[in-house]
Amino acid sequence: MSRVSYQKNAKGKPTGVFTNGELDWHSDQQSYHDNHRVVGLMSLWGCEGSQTTFLCTAAPYATLNQDDLTMVNELTTVWNWDGGTMSADLIESQKEIVRYNMVPYPEMECALVDQTASCVKGLRFPSHCFSHFKGMTREESMKYRAHLWDQINKPEYIYTHNWKDNQTMFMDQNITLHARPTNVKDGDTRTLSRMISYLDKLYPGNGPADHVLYDGRKVDHAEFAAMVDGQRRKEYFGDAPLNASKILESA
Ligand SMILES: [Fe+2]
Repeated sequence: MSRVSYQKNAKGKPTGVFTNGELDWHSDQQSYHDNHRVVGLMSLWGCEGSQTTFLCTAAPYATLNQDDLTMVNELTTVWNWDGGTMSADLIESQKEIVRYNMVPYPEMECALVDQTASCVKGLRFPSHCFSHFKGMTREESMKYRAHLWDQINKPEYIYTHNWKDNQTMFMDQNITLHARPTNVKDGDTRTLSRMISYLDKLYPGNGPADHVLYDGRKVDHAEFAAMVDGQRRKEYFGDAPLNASKILESA
């Protein structure tokens, strides 16, 4: 459970994950091929008059022409941490939490085509932290992404929710994007929390996998955690060889 609205506490620190202003289209944990499938958003107070929009890619995926369908079915997305563009106002230690939730290690991979827990197919359309499609340059990737976006970003695929307080909305994260068109400012009282779920009680077999995908292979969680930790230590200590006293100092 986490707070998504951006408000500052008495010490001036943000209490929500995301920055002020509007939030562009995105979905959660896009770099994990076994990301949580559903987010439940709860409007606690001050939400009346604000909006969240939802864009489901199932229908546009089903109407792609044969060339695009062949292409998207073969494409793999590659991800790199973007420094925290969605959480720009957080302090550095808070941003690290967001980073390890979004893209904990460079060059993580996912298939572009994905499906909901109930097996509805669509696109895991890449948003923030997208680097490129595997085998394409960044320029080629962004061009093809724009081509797909032209076919997806249409009013008929978008639902706009006008919030009232004390509501909960569950939204898919595998093939559905969401955005915040409401411009949140300092002092706003708009307060939402969220929870995440894999829906594996309703749809057995949809829980987290026992591995991540990296460089074309499955990496088990223990090995992946060691990779992430090795990277973290390298960033903290630089390229100098690690020694026990320095590690103890940092603990
Ligand atoms: Fe979100």
